[in-house]
Amino acid sequence: MLLDLTTSIPRGASTRRVALLREAANPSANAPASVRAALARAVRAAGFRGRAKELALVSDRDGPWILVGLGKDPVSPGKLRRAIQRAAKESLRPGATKVAFVFGKGIGEEDVRRALPQIASLDYRFDRYRTRRTDGPVKSRGAVLVADADARRRLLPALRDASVSADAAAWARDLGNTPANDLGPDEFASSVEAMGKKHGLAVDVFDKKRIEKERLAGLLAVNSGSVRPPRFVVGEYRPARPLGTAVLVGKGITFDSGGISIKPSLAMGEMKYDMMGAATVFAALQAAARLKLPVRVVALAPVTENLPSGSACRPGDILRMRNGKTVEVDNTDAEGRLVLADVLDYAQNFEPDVLIDFATLTGAVLVALGIECAGLLTPDDRLAADLAAAGDAVGERLWRLPVWDEYLENLKSEFADMRNTGGRNAGTINGAIFLKQFAPKGVPWAHIDFAGVAHTEKDQAGWPAGATGFGVALTVEFLRRRFPA
Ligand code: BES
Ligand code: ZN
Ligand code: MN
Repeated sequence: MLLDLTTSIPRGASTRRVALLREAANPSANAPASVRAALARAVRAAGFRGRAKELALVSDRDGPWILVGLGKDPVSPGKLRRAIQRAAKESLRPGATKVAFVFGKGIGEEDVRRALPQIASLDYRFDRYRTRRTDGPVKSRGAVLVADADARRRLLPALRDASVSADAAAWARDLGNTPANDLGPDEFASSVEAMGKKHGLAVDVFDKKRIEKERLAGLLAVNSGSVRPPRFVVGEYRPARPLGTAVLVGKGITFDSGGISIKPSLAMGEMKYDMMGAATVFAALQAAARLKLPVRVVALAPVTENLPSGSACRPGDILRMRNGKTVEVDNTDAEGRLVLADVLDYAQNFEPDVLIDFATLTGAVLVALGIECAGLLTPDDRLAADLAAAGDAVGERLWRLPVWDEYLENLKSEFADMRNTGGRNAGTINGAIFLKQFAPKGVPWAHIDFAGVAHTEKDQAGWPAGATGFGVALTVEFLRRRFPA
C-alpha cells in the first residue's frame, strides 16, 4: 500500500487507527504526542491492558481504534509480525481504506523499520480467479506514526526500500499464487520478460536448444517428464558504475509432483509454489533496479515442471553435469538441487563477488526451523553474518545450519561421484552439501532454503495465506549493506 511516515494521523474520514501496545500500567505512554491523549482515552474506554494477543475495538468521534496487545516481554520480530497481521485483518476492509499505525512504549525505531515491508504489503490480494467479487479489491493508504521530524528523516530511506520491495514482492507472489495450469516455464519466462521491459532490465530467455548447448543437464533431466519445454531465464541490472556483481539464483519448479518418485497427494497442490526461489530473485532484481542500487545484479533461474511420464527421468539414472561431475538420481523428488547445480556453475560467467541462491529445497527445513525463519547455509562466516543481519533488519529472519564437508559422506553413490539424496538425517544440509559441489570455488556463496516461509497454506504465525514474498526485502537490505554507495 501507499505508505507514509507522519507525526500525526492524516486528516480525513475513515482512517482506521491501529495501536500496537505493550502491557503496562499506562500502555499508551510514549505514543506520538499528537495522538497520545486520544489513544489514552480509547485505552481507558476499552479497559485495554496490552496483554499478549489482546485485541480491542473502540470508536471515538474520529473513527475506530484497533488496539493490539504485545504483552510484557520485549517485543520480538515474530510477535510484532503476528500483531500487525492481526491488526490488518481488523482494519483493512474492502473499499478505499486509510490506516494509521501507532506504536507504544518499548517498540523502538528498529522494530518499526523491521515492520515496514510487512505493513507495505498488507493490502496485497490475489483474487483474479474469483468470478464473483464479494469483497472488492482493497487498495489502501497507510501511515506509520513517528515521534518527530528527526525520526521521520531517519526512517524515510527504509520506507522507500520497503515500499519498492513490497511492490516487487507482490509481483513474485502473483506468480507463486498462479496455479501451474496457467504458469508453466514459458509463462514464467514471459512474465519476467514483461517485467524486465517495464523496469529497464536486460532479460534473456534460453529455450531448450540453448539449454542443451549450455549443458544444463540437471534442468534437462528434470524436464524430461513434462510436455512443456524448460526455460533458463537470465536477467541483469547494471548501474553506470557498479561497485561489484551479485548473482542471485532461484529454483524455478512451476510444479513439483516429485516425478517418478511421486509425492503423496496430500497437499501436493502446494507444489505450485516451488518456483518462489525464481520469482524472488527476479523480484529482488526489479527492486534493485528501481532503487538504483550501486551494484550489478544478475538473476538466474532454471524453470521447469517436475512430472512423471514415459519420458521422465528415473531413479537410478546417472547424469553428467555441466561441471563434469556425475550424479546418480536416487530420488526424482530431489529435483531442486539437480536444476540448481549447473546454474551455480554457470554463474561463474558473471564473475560474481557474491552468489546467493533461494530455493524451496527441502521439507526438512520445515521440520528443523518451522515457519519462523528460513535456513541459511554457507561456508562463509562473514556472508552468513551479513545475510542474517539484513534479514533481522527487515523481519525476514534466517538461521544458520552447517555445511561441513563431513556431511558429503551422506551423498555417497556406488556408481557415480555422488547421489542426489542423503538418507533420513540432515535433509536440509544434504541439499546444501550437494549444491556446494557445484558452487564456483573462491566465490562467497550462500544457499537459502525457504521452503518453510516462501508460502503458507493458511493465514498463520503472522504470514498471509499463499506466497509470502519472503526474501525480497532481505535481499535489498543485504545489497545495500554489502555495496554501500
Ligand atoms: N519442493 C520440495 C520441497 C518442499 C517441501 C517445498 C515442502 C515446500 C514444502 C523438494 O523438491 C522436495 O521434494 N524435496 C524432498 C527431498 C528429498 C527427496 C531428499 C523432500 O524434502 O522430501
Ligand atoms: Zn521441489
Ligand atoms: Mn521435489
